Amino acid sequence: MQSVNMTEDLWEHLLSLREGSVRPVALSAETDASCLSLYKPVASRSAPFVLAQVGQSLDGRVATPSGDAQDVSGCDGIVHLHRCRALVDAVIVGVGTVVADDPSLSVRAVSGKSPIRVVVDCNGRMPERAKMLHDGGMPVLLLQAEDAPTRSGRHEIVRLPRQTDGGLAPRDILDALAERGLATVLVEGGANTISRFVDADLIDRLHVSVAPIIIGSGPAGIRLSPIDRLSEARRPEVQVYNLGTDIVFDCNLRAEAQRKAISPERQNVLMADMA
Ligand SMILES: NC(=O)c1ccc[n+]([C@@H]2O[C@H](COP(=O)([O-])OP(=O)(O)OC[C@H]3O[C@@H](n4cnc5c(N)ncnc54)[C@H](OP(=O)(O)O)[C@@H]3O)[C@@H](O)[C@H]2O)c1
Repeated sequence: MQSVNMTEDLWEHLLSLREGSVRPVALSAETDASCLSLYKPVASRSAPFVLAQVGQSLDGRVATPSGDAQDVSGCDGIVHLHRCRALVDAVIVGVGTVVADDPSLSVRAVSGKSPIRVVVDCNGRMPERAKMLHDGGMPVLLLQAEDAPTRSGRHEIVRLPRQTDGGLAPRDILDALAERGLATVLVEGGANTISRFVDADLIDRLHVSVAPIIIGSGPAGIRLSPIDRLSEARRPEVQVYNLGTDIVFDCNLRAEAQRKAISPERQNVLMADMA
């Protein structure tokens, strides 16, 4: 397990990558290398990038059954989340998270610019009084189905086609953001929203940040279609980082999706080549 010890210099370097310029940094210790391997793929502007992040307990819960999700992550887990927000163009949540938590989705625990706030609100049930609509922060984009009730307010509404399952296609969501110049995206939750992106194979990295707390019951951070056998479970390449109060599992879902896309015959040829 690698330790994450961020220095001011290194953080400024990562923020400069996010802006498309490169502020040189003198790399010193091994710890710098772990910061770079965790955050550089998020900050780098070389290609569109989708990060999902879940802050959960030891027993895989993100909230109590009544919806209290305030202090699941420890203070270093919160700093990690705010770093991720500061390194992307846009942060996405489902409207369920807005209803439950009323988040502001801004960057407060570290220096850096807050991302554009995107709420997937397929059926137009975003609360009028949501904090993010009134805090004077970064713009809010509501993504709604074409047939959702029309409503005006302090936000831009983007209409997307409703799919046969009743929802919005994650691909359409990313395309709509890309058209607005938002190429790097953090999908912050909740489970419903993240799971749709994971199911669509559109997540490059999934950060599961685990805090040493046992909640015992309550919702999980990801809910995928049920499988019968563990051989069908997703097994991404994972790097593990010690943040301090929390441990983060950095799962490379893109590499896993690419492996899945290769036919079994081709995999056999590759294995034979490697032998
Ligand atoms: N610890 C963490 O990391 C973390 C982070 C965020 C949230 N949370 C917790 O997660 C819970 C909320 O999660 P959740 O799974 O219930 O809700 P959610 O994912 O925040 O929101 C789900 C709702 O968003 C809309 N939605 C999302 N993606 C959509 C898509 N592709 N197409 C159409 N509609 C889409 C749907 O709204 P409609 O039903 O209106 O169609 C859906 O019911 C809260 O308890 C919150 O505290 C935890």
